[in-house]
Amino acid sequence: MDSPTASTPAPPPTTHAPGAPGAPVPGSGRERVTVPAVRARKRRDGADPIVMVTAYDEPGARIADGAGVDVILVGDSVANNVLGYDDTLHVTIDDMARHTAAVGRARPRALVLGDLPWMSYHLTVEEAVASAAALVRAGAGAVKLEGGPARARVIGAIVDAEIPVMGHLGLTPQSVLAMGGYRVQGRDVDAARALVDAARRLEEAGCFAVVLEGVPDVVAAEITARLSIPTIGIGAGPHCDGQVLVFHDLLGLGAGPVPKFVRPYANLAEVATAAVAAYAADVRAGAFPGDAETYHGSPELRAALGPAPG
Ligand code: KIV
Repeated sequence: MDSPTASTPAPPPTTHAPGAPGAPVPGSGRERVTVPAVRARKRRDGADPIVMVTAYDEPGARIADGAGVDVILVGDSVANNVLGYDDTLHVTIDDMARHTAAVGRARPRALVLGDLPWMSYHLTVEEAVASAAALVRAGAGAVKLEGGPARARVIGAIVDAEIPVMGHLGLTPQSVLAMGGYRVQGRDVDAARALVDAARRLEEAGCFAVVLEGVPDVVAAEITARLSIPTIGIGAGPHCDGQVLVFHDLLGLGAGPVPKFVRPYANLAEVATAAVAAYAADVRAGAFPGDAETYHGSPELRAALGPAPG
């Protein structure tokens, strides 16, 4: 067989490294969702809406992927939903890498998006790129970060390091102290125009998509119309190119009331509590374990151990 020479360059590789985004999921015959595929998903061009959901561990990722979502966001909302904090300011890049790796172990078809936590991209550009790389090494195919034009330089540097970035505008939970609480953003004309401008700056900086959280529907529609990259809404109305919800909110696994924009599709906290209560009742009544849940020793073993106690 001829080997490639300088005048007959080798063809581009047709296979991907196992586990790399874009590679087939081993044993499944399914192509992984890639960043370019997500970037191309504008509804105005006839694309289906992008479906994104958070997951923080292997079982959650398995469930989300089994349901056929496009993107699994390992959100810094792991702080509130799993780790018991009141806000997202308490999680570190090590926390996010650990949860991203757990999600990656589900080997999902969906694109795994690692969320850069507060203070992992705010100090220096070098630190921001290193933080993004830590999430990629943990298993992310792209990263997300919050904020507008002030983050453009950092976004450019991460993109220059070949790591795709999703932006996040509007009600950005990492800004809870500056916002004075979790409030819908862009309600007046000036604030709405600033959001539209910020979204354009994120696209120019190289983002492949942008999350719009907690903004009026008309503002999300305006941004969606003006960008060539897709918008993914959460509390941003129906006009975005995709939607994202938090796993625990949509499954009814959280504590307390959910925000207005959440539609709970199940009440798994109630189902789970009832199941654990039934187990507790069975243990207390001596009804668990039963015969079927017991490893029985042979009569010979019983005899060798001597008379049964009691
Ligand atoms: O961490 C998260 O759950 C998020 C979504 C709200 C978009 O960033």
